[in-house]
Amino acid sequence: MVVPVILYGYPILRKQSFEVTKSDDIFQLSADLFDTVKKSKGIGLAAPQIGILKRAFVIDTSPFSSDQENTTPICEQIFINPEILEQSANKIYYEEGCLSIPGIFEEVQRPEKITVRYLDVELNQIEEELDGTKARIFQHEFDHLNGILFIDKLNPLKRKLLARKLNKIVNS
Ligand code: CO
Repeated sequence: MVVPVILYGYPILRKQSFEVTKSDDIFQLSADLFDTVKKSKGIGLAAPQIGILKRAFVIDTSPFSSDQENTTPICEQIFINPEILEQSANKIYYEEGCLSIPGIFEEVQRPEKITVRYLDVELNQIEEELDGTKARIFQHEFDHLNGILFIDKLNPLKRKLLARKLNKIVNS
């Protein structure tokens, strides 16, 4: 089901999410996240953004598939109880946006590569090394589970410059 994405300013986006357990309806959560991210033409969406304080998010890079330059395979996946085990010392800048913060896109610096552990939709535990856009989206969505937004990573001057735009979202 497509559900409204919660916008910047709502306290739920700043809360810590809880571990997913076997008693949670993972298929429903997965369906809601995928329906909503696709409808919103996003590339990632975390459960708290649809009002569910559970440690899960989806990555959906299918909007990139129309880009002829892009040869990396499409990722359409849910990540449950994700952990970041290791991160590369090398950090890179990459432009980020967020469905909860519409109209704002900024370069954010994060580790280039990460080693992660998570459960898939069938609760199989998976460990892998990520780089490229998948590593970037993973880190952005992972932050949502801890109440962190990408604008938190910007320098104070940049954030000051964004204050008016952010207030507009709060009051929309
Ligand atoms: Co986001």
